[in-house]
Order: sequence, then structure tokens, then C-alpha cells
Amino acid sequence: MTNITAAKAGTFRIGGEIEINRLGFGANRITGKGVWGEPTDRAEAIRPLKRLPDLGVNFIDTADSYGPDVSEQLIREALHPYSSVVVATKGGFVRPGPDRWEPNGRPDYLIAQAKGSQKRLGVEQIALWQLHRIDPKVSYDEQLEAVKSLLDEGIIRHAGLSEVKVEEIEAAQKFFKVATVQNRYNLADRASEDVIDFCTGNDIGFIPWLPLADGRLATPGGSLEKVAKRHQATTGQIALAWLLQRSPVMLPIPGTSNVAHLEENVAAASIRLTDEEFELLKAA
Ligand SMILES: NC(=O)c1ccc[n+]([C@@H]2O[C@H](COP(=O)([O-])OP(=O)(O)OC[C@H]3O[C@@H](n4cnc5c(N)ncnc54)[C@H](OP(=O)(O)O)[C@@H]3O)[C@@H](O)[C@H]2O)c1
Repeated sequence: MTNITAAKAGTFRIGGEIEINRLGFGANRITGKGVWGEPTDRAEAIRPLKRLPDLGVNFIDTADSYGPDVSEQLIREALHPYSSVVVATKGGFVRPGPDRWEPNGRPDYLIAQAKGSQKRLGVEQIALWQLHRIDPKVSYDEQLEAVKSLLDEGIIRHAGLSEVKVEEIEAAQKFFKVATVQNRYNLADRASEDVIDFCTGNDIGFIPWLPLADGRLATPGGSLEKVAKRHQATTGQIALAWLLQRSPVMLPIPGTSNVAHLEENVAAASIRLTDEEFELLKAA
């Protein structure tokens, strides 16, 4: 298993500066059920995190709201002082309970939460912090001002957005350089095609969340099966390889609590689809 490496996916520079391998890890599966509370087995939850450096995975996506706090705490426990890993986090949700998410984009809340992430992760500066959601109850400009103040104060190095349209990215660019955009995107859900094209043209990292469609694309069968057989791969690996080929700014962060699944996902970095396979899957 040692020749499996995320480096085979190639690299991307966040904000033109921080270099990461393009296949990362999503850390919302390591908490309790419903992205709530402690995992049932803490040692088991930490295992995939500890395996990341060996697999060349040097980009982790988390959020203050995963747990809340728990995902960031586990990442710190497993990987601090992060000699070879970039941890990106997010803020802008409150969590009233399991599987419940409510946006809160009040500037004082966003700033306090980012400072909380900085402490929990144990970093001098958060490498990449993303506004988890635009709160429709708060003026967008005020939310962007808050992000800008985090950059100006040096609490965060780079800033990104999540679940946004092209016009919303353009509006944010008037306040700060948008380093990444994180929207739901996978082979079965391609509503963000225009956002990917915009990010590709502007060298903004595009982080597709739910890259495996919540695991559905990793189950055998369907249109992925034929291509998977040809590559002696799993359907999930083909879904990830397709994402990596969709754009040089694509940074998939498949989430898993399972080391075998993690290794399988990272091995997708070595798969190259033919143009014909890529188009076939795009059309399916
Ligand atoms: N910005 C946002 O609003 C937002 C929203 C949601 C998520 N995210 C981020 O995006 C990341 C990825 O999304 P996601 O984790 O929700 O969805 P996902 O990566 O599409 O799917 C994760 C699911 O797939 C399963 N899975 C993973 N690898 C597998 C494999 N090789 N074989 C079989 N099953 C496999 C996992 O179960 P096992 O644990 O059993 O492997 C889990 O149930 C998250 O971890 C989080 O960091 C961001």
C-alpha cells in the first residue's frame, strides 16, 4: 500500500502560495452520528487522520461546526504541529443538534468562531478559512467585511466561500482575493459547472463537497462500472479520477472514517481516464 500517494493527483497552490496535493481529505465523518458530538471510538476516528501523511494527503477540510469543535480537536490530537499538512476550516453555522445546521453570518460571530478555530487547531494563523454559508439574514457585504478583517488581522492567511454563485464570488473579490470555493459537486450533481469554469479561469481552488455523492458513487453498479472494470478500479475511484480530470483547480476531499476506504480513495490519484471515458461519464 506504500506506493499509494495523493501526489499523483498533481498539485495546486492555494492563493497562489500554499502548495497542496490535489486529492485531500474531508473531516466531517470522524465525529459522532449526524456530525454531532464525540465519535463512538475516539482512537478509531483518529486512525484515518494519522494515516494521511504516509499517503501524501496534505490537505484536510474541516469546520468549527463539525461536532461542533470535535473534528478540529481530533485533527489537532492526531497531527499537530502539522509538519506536512494544511488544515482548512470554515465558520458560519450554528448547530442546534445532530444533522441540524443554521447559518449565522453576524460579523462578531464569524470573527469569534475563526478565533476559536485558531485556538482549537493550535495554529498561529489558519492557512485557509472559508465562509461556510452566506447568511441570508445578514447583509452579504457585512459578512465579507468580517472575512476581510480576519485577513487583515492575520488570523487567517487565505479566505474562501462555500455554496456560492459566480456573482457572489465576484462580489467577494471586491473585498478580498477569493482563494477557494467549496460547492456540492460530483458526477451525479453538476449544478456548479459555471462556477467551476469561473474558478478554473481565475485560478481559484474548487473544492467539490460530497464528491462521492455521500458514498452512492462508491457502490458497485451503474454507469461507472464499465469504466471501473477497464481500470481494475472501484466505481468510487473512477468518480474521483473524473473529478480530478474535470479541472486543474479541482480539489476533491472525500470523507471517510475508514482507513481501507481512505487508501482506496487516495489510489484514485493514479488513474487517468481516456478522453472518451471522461466524455462518456460526463454524458451518463
Ligand atoms: N461546504 C459544505 O457545506 C460541506 C458540506 C458537506 C461536506 N463538506 C466537506 O466535504 C467532505 C466530503 O463530503 P462528504 O464526506 O459529506 O461526502 P462524500 O465524500 O461524498 O461521501 C462520504 C461517504 O462515502 C463513504 N465512503 C467514502 N469512501 C468510500 C469508499 N472508498 N468506499 C465506500 N464508501 C466510501 C463514507 O463512509 P465511510 O466512512 O464508511 O467510508 C461516507 O458515508 C466532508 O468530509 C466535509 O469536509 C462540506
